[in-house]
Amino acid sequence: MPVRIIVGAQWGDEGKGKVVDLLAEHADIVARYQGGANAGHTVCIGEKTYVLHLIPSGIFHPHITCVIGNGAVIDPAALLSEIDQLQQAGIDINGRLLVSHNAHLIMPYHKMLDTIREKTADKIGTTGRGIGPAYIDKFMRCGIRIVDLLDRDILAKKLAANIAEKNQILARVYGETAIDVDKVIAAYQEFDIKIDPFITDTAVYLNTALKNNKRIIAEGAQGALLDVDHGTYPFVTSSNPTAGGACTGLGIPPTSVETIIGIMKAYSTRVGNGPFPTELHDETGESLRTLGHEFGATTGRPRRCGWFDAVATRYSAMINGITKLVVTKVDVLDGLETIRVCVGYEVNGRQLKSFPTDVKTLERVTPVYEDFEGWKTPLASTRHWEDLPKAARTYLRALGELTGTELWMISVGPRRDQTLLVV
Ligand code: GDP
Ligand code: IMO
Ligand code: MG
Repeated sequence: MPVRIIVGAQWGDEGKGKVVDLLAEHADIVARYQGGANAGHTVCIGEKTYVLHLIPSGIFHPHITCVIGNGAVIDPAALLSEIDQLQQAGIDINGRLLVSHNAHLIMPYHKMLDTIREKTADKIGTTGRGIGPAYIDKFMRCGIRIVDLLDRDILAKKLAANIAEKNQILARVYGETAIDVDKVIAAYQEFDIKIDPFITDTAVYLNTALKNNKRIIAEGAQGALLDVDHGTYPFVTSSNPTAGGACTGLGIPPTSVETIIGIMKAYSTRVGNGPFPTELHDETGESLRTLGHEFGATTGRPRRCGWFDAVATRYSAMINGITKLVVTKVDVLDGLETIRVCVGYEVNGRQLKSFPTDVKTLERVTPVYEDFEGWKTPLASTRHWEDLPKAARTYLRALGELTGTELWMISVGPRRDQTLLVV
């Protein structure tokens, strides 16, 4: 059963890129199953830092084949620029990147509609990468898939219908200028020539790999609390980052999944709008942001910071079926006298039994905190579990217990070597 799914268990940016890169050493394939260039996955190798948006975080290991599955939405311009950047950095991707022919394409009008909607009162605080509008078209069954690029007539017909509809919305509702169909056809045909070598039926590829006992890492983007079904709707992304999304987003059977690895930051962050019960608006929040470099890897926006929320992450562990827990960025808490963890929610003096996913309730909850002693020692060079200060081990064990998961790995810095296994 060779599939390991890596999921972000909070609101994204948990350090998935670092962990996927690390685990890829002992894998054959790394496959992205949802989302698009809204993701920003950072991988630090020695002194070099790379940020990946669409390309899976296994790309830095020459033996790895990277797959972008049918569940992802692909902006070809973003993909090509990422390929270009990697090639310029000396990373050979030839024959190592496969893109599903069934993946949907992000079109210029998706980005326009996303940006325009974000100017209204209903804004979500999206990344502006066209993700929501592209998934709307997918589920409306009028989306354009990579396979459609193969036939100019089909592409022209589908684009003309889409653009006619979108132009009406853009002009009538938003007073925006119309999109020229021919220009879009020409641009996407140009993209097609460039991305053609990477396109294949990735579901067949992955299932053949499974038969041959290849080890696959399914890389989630975003996080469980941004899941369109299970997150803090409507302040979510438009796909399923949760573990279930890996099977539909790659075309692999649930029975192929061996392990679900949940990544949690030792505190919480969120980018964009939406409820965040443990958010800190004080100096501690500011210092988490500064010490943790909590600025979006895709948009550069400051991330909202707060204490670890064990109610939200316990829910996340349940929805994902997390079997192994990785806690990242523990070193960011080094200087704190006291570290708080939210262990319950109260509304009108009543304790809630489960995580409310309706935002109205979530906005009103009062977190109930348990305080932990800080370790006040730098952890960045610690390499063994037994060498961690007792207070750090107590804190980390508590996160495992409170979330009902098996504490497996700890990260104390962005580099590969700044990682230790829990014994
Ligand atoms: P992702 O979207 O889940 O891949 O996470 P991001 O790359 O958006 O954000 C995580 C940030 O934290 C990146 O800048 C990483 O280099 C960094 N990082 C990852 N693990 C650690 C860690 O253990 N300690 C510190 N200080 N930084 C880390
Ligand atoms: P990674 O993979 C953190 C957030 C946006 C916004 C909401 C919807 O790096 O963890 P979208 O552009 O997807 O329609 O925006 O989701 N968001 C992320 N937050 N990390 C991400 O990706 C995110 N991708 C989207 O900020 O609140
Ligand atoms: Mg990120």
